[in-house]
Amino acid sequence: MQDPIEEIRTRLTIEEVVQPYVSLKKAGRNFKACCPFHKEKTPSFVVSPEKQLAYCFGCHKGGDMFKFIQEAEGVDFRGALEILADKANVELKAGPGPRVSKDEKDTYVDLQKELSDFYSKNLYSKDGKKVLEYIKDRGVTDESIKEWGIGFAKDSFEAGYKHLLSKNFHKSDAVKTGVLISKDTSGDKVYDRFRLRLIFPIFDDMGRVVGFGGRALKKGDEPKYLNSPDSPVYNKSKVLYGLNLAKEHIKSEDLAVVVEGYMDVISSYQSGIKNVVASSGTALTDGQLKLLKRFTKNIAFCFDTDAAGRDALNRAIESAQPLDLNLKIVLIPGYKDPDECCKDDPSKWRDAIENAKYYLDFYLENSEYDVSDLEQSKAFCDMYLGLLSGVKHPLEQETYLNKLASKVSVPA
Ligand code: UTP
Ligand code: MN
Repeated sequence: MQDPIEEIRTRLTIEEVVQPYVSLKKAGRNFKACCPFHKEKTPSFVVSPEKQLAYCFGCHKGGDMFKFIQEAEGVDFRGALEILADKANVELKAGPGPRVSKDEKDTYVDLQKELSDFYSKNLYSKDGKKVLEYIKDRGVTDESIKEWGIGFAKDSFEAGYKHLLSKNFHKSDAVKTGVLISKDTSGDKVYDRFRLRLIFPIFDDMGRVVGFGGRALKKGDEPKYLNSPDSPVYNKSKVLYGLNLAKEHIKSEDLAVVVEGYMDVISSYQSGIKNVVASSGTALTDGQLKLLKRFTKNIAFCFDTDAAGRDALNRAIESAQPLDLNLKIVLIPGYKDPDECCKDDPSKWRDAIENAKYYLDFYLENSEYDVSDLEQSKAFCDMYLGLLSGVKHPLEQETYLNKLASKVSVPA
């Protein structure tokens, strides 16, 4: 295998490495920006595509892409290597299990991009007329459809398969990505996974198509959302829907809003609130939170208020506490989800995000426990003390311990 460092250098440009952290402006052959490492009003941070360097002439920080990531992320060389290897889809060393070479990964991505384009065309074909009406009825514009690559998988067991064959992709590769399902162990007989579904391509943070989510279009079709399985290019616990487009906004707003669904992200983005990603129905993992932490330390969760949503929230907080993230909770009373809220009145969604509550206050105030009842009060204290045990800073811990004590009317 080629030297991974060289491999990363050939696969990534300094501009794309730096871009999530600053807003670059063209200046002759270079780009300029205000330095991400020190406060300034006149840009002295220069990115040179020719030299592949990013350097601040004010504070003298920066250098090549590895040096830049070290400074920007506060990691050592190895840490920077890992972040960039992940971004570049370069393998650092053979882990346990079968190895997947980068060429193979490229094939899986190309194959899914081809299929994604096919689904997009379907949506605007005669067969897709009703589905296009449906998505437009939901308020999604042509521009958003294009931006998010929304498509349509016809009611056919072989339309996708045939298309991929016509483009010279191999059946076995399509099975590995999960877009085809094999009927038998020989892998000879295959059929399309996505049939009669509205398709949301899932992108990784670099914008590569790594999987799909397909929404049922017929009442009673289960599950409501059918997703690609994990594959050599799609690791669910490391992908956040929308991050490819949201990352620069997360960086500039210094806040990431995490919602549950595909449509929540798209509606929010279309309403101009663009620092939004979705966990896609699963509890947020440690890997997803670390991915977000590359862009901001401030995270606001907006999950459904049902039991499943509350459970997802609890687990997300548990994973986030050790990562030193600033966690907030967004509430949108009267709405099922951000998508509904945006459609009704985007300003309400904006206000809700602005009024997000710090998680320790949220749990203190929005308790489902009646603290005038001794048993419930005990249960409430157990829950809240559990939460406080994950708080790192003693001052913060003490402050909220006092608040808890006063809420249940006992001395701290
Ligand atoms: P919801 O059931 O809340 O749907 O699932 P939604 O996003 O509001 O969908 P619409 O608005 O009716 O179209 C939230 C998210 O959970 C995941 C999907 O990512 C979905 O967007 N999910 C849901 C699944 O993965 N599978 C399911 O069967 C249901
Ligand atoms: Mn919805």
